[in-house]
Amino acid sequence: MAHILIADDEPSVRDVLRSQLAAFGHEVTAVENGRLAAEAVLRTEYDLIVSDIRMPEMDGIQFLKTVLPRVEGTTPCIVLTGFHDVSHAIRAIQAGAYDYVRKPWELDDIRLAVNRALQRRADLKFRRDYQTDLERRVQEAVAELKATYDGTIVGFAAILEGKDTTTADHCTRVRDMCSRLGRELGLGTDRVRDLELGAMLHDIGKCKVPDAILNKPGALTPDEWTTMRLHPEFGGEIVEKIAFLRGASEVVRCHHERWDGKGYPKGLREREIPLAARIFMVVDAYDTITSKRPYKEPQPPEAAIDEIRRCAGTHFDPEVVAAFERVFPEFAQATRARHASAAVHAPVPVG
Ligand SMILES: [Fe+2]
Repeated sequence: MAHILIADDEPSVRDVLRSQLAAFGHEVTAVENGRLAAEAVLRTEYDLIVSDIRMPEMDGIQFLKTVLPRVEGTTPCIVLTGFHDVSHAIRAIQAGAYDYVRKPWELDDIRLAVNRALQRRADLKFRRDYQTDLERRVQEAVAELKATYDGTIVGFAAILEGKDTTTADHCTRVRDMCSRLGRELGLGTDRVRDLELGAMLHDIGKCKVPDAILNKPGALTPDEWTTMRLHPEFGGEIVEKIAFLRGASEVVRCHHERWDGKGYPKGLREREIPLAARIFMVVDAYDTITSKRPYKEPQPPEAAIDEIRRCAGTHFDPEVVAAFERVFPEFAQATRARHASAAVHAPVPVG
């Protein structure tokens, strides 16, 4: 059984058609003009529309142009034409009608036209449902792949830094805050994704810096600093060899540049530094200041934003800092919750 919408201004035509279609076993809704039919398709998905071509308020051609975009091409429309209205029938087909039936019709004419149109409806619906299902499965597969990548990268970044899981937490926090700040600054989905990857892998180049330099307890010599300052370029070379990480290289290569040109390795300044790297630098500073390190206690969010404001125009892009101020209340709330949780779970001194 199909649900069929009839639009015709003549009550006698509506009644005949309604009883014929009902006799074929279909559910029928009948309205008296194109405007009402155009409203009806917004409320209900019909399997078929049968419309007169000459109607007050909205004629059949105008009706087709209004309704067909609303039914997304999956509900066919048959138009009813006068016996000599061939030119109208042609215009209706050109406007997207699936078929036409001339008045007055024989019962078999309408049965054949309706059955053909409903078969068309079934084909279109099958194709639409198949496509929707395919898109859903692709989205699920992409989400699963992304989660797998992220898990691998977070773990990898933590191992690189030779630290415990707090480093992984730092990675995911910085990634999520970069994502939020990137969207605040109008980055699209792909660029936000590259920013997230760059945030997680920014120090990957340290794996090419000798341990004797990385783990040196005292101050580095000038030569050792020269080597240390190459880690962004080492990292860029690594990620650019891996197709799905290539977009991360802007952050990896430029995460130690500064807005005033006093950073490294290239001394880029202002907008020479990619936006993704400028975003990362502010977020990384915020997370570092508000996190516990072996050499310092965590600072409250307000101390972090004071320091970030102070460094706007020297270390940081002032526009990125302004955007950071807008999302700061969200970040501060999450930070306070993290600090409160750490205080609850802190070990109790013995003795
Ligand atoms: Fe670094």
